[in-house]
Amino acid sequence: MQATASAHPNVALIKYWGKQDVATNLPAVGSLSLTLGGLTTRTTVNFSAELQRDELTINGASDDVAISRVSRCLDMLRQHAGVDLCASVTTTNDFPTGAGLASSASGYAALVKAAAAALQVDISGDELDLIARIGSGSAPRSLHAGIVLLEKIADHTGTHCHSVAAPDDWPLSVVVAVTSRQPKDVSSTGGMESSRKTSPTYHAWVDTHPADLAAGLKFVEQRDFMALAEISEHSCLKMHAVAMSSLPPLVYWSGATVACMQRVRELRQSGVPVFFTIDAGPQLKAVCLPEAVGEVHAALAEVPGVLDVLDCHLGSGAQLES
Ligand code: PMV
Repeated sequence: MQATASAHPNVALIKYWGKQDVATNLPAVGSLSLTLGGLTTRTTVNFSAELQRDELTINGASDDVAISRVSRCLDMLRQHAGVDLCASVTTTNDFPTGAGLASSASGYAALVKAAAAALQVDISGDELDLIARIGSGSAPRSLHAGIVLLEKIADHTGTHCHSVAAPDDWPLSVVVAVTSRQPKDVSSTGGMESSRKTSPTYHAWVDTHPADLAAGLKFVEQRDFMALAEISEHSCLKMHAVAMSSLPPLVYWSGATVACMQRVRELRQSGVPVFFTIDAGPQLKAVCLPEAVGEVHAALAEVPGVLDVLDCHLGSGAQLES
């Protein structure tokens, strides 16, 4: 009872920030994201009668912290399959882990894909998305390819996630500027709860979000890069404004993050098709048309404080390996 799956991290253009229900990671708002081919998590799950408890190894090191959340996802799949076996989970990332590059999204997407196959469980796409979501709120998006919409729906799963453009339909590129390799001080879950309870702009964020999501989706459908640039930077900065206006304030950026934002804006003003987005961490993701990758990469590599620059393209959803 063993299977291996791979998945890519993702980055949201129209962000999610805030949970309606923490236990099931039900988001307060939907989101629109890009699945990042070029960065890959590979996970093998092996259910065995010889194991006394679930075991997790990440990049060769045993992990006793994340195992309880992993077991929660495995429990839901075991329940679906009517199986009571423990599992060993072995996962590797070919990119920095826990450094704001959404390794938990790709990790939980690969986990549920491999575990469902190992158990040969018959489960709907929305159910699998829900189980991935229990691990990480943005993980369902990594189960899907290209440009992905996560929308809230009124059934027991609470969300429906699907690809709105395949990688070849609109081949956007993403250049990641790594400005720190340290784990962040405040997790996104902790930050979201703090924002919900204390930020005076949290409710405005939730109330205005559906219009941002609809606009983002429309600009993707129209392949209107410059309009998508405006709404995506707006959503990113609005999310960070909510975080910054929380008590205590949450500032996820470094000086280099701000310098990268300014560099991206200068490039766009000079006619380069590029815009930025930033998650709950100091890395900047520059989204651009493929012909601009070389120029954007070179410009970000020159910004003081940038440690590394990674080029990504739109990637597939989570996939089983034979
Ligand atoms: O996957 P989570 O629950 O840790 O949330 C991540 C949320 C952001 O990355 C900050 C925004 C987003 O929509 O990806």
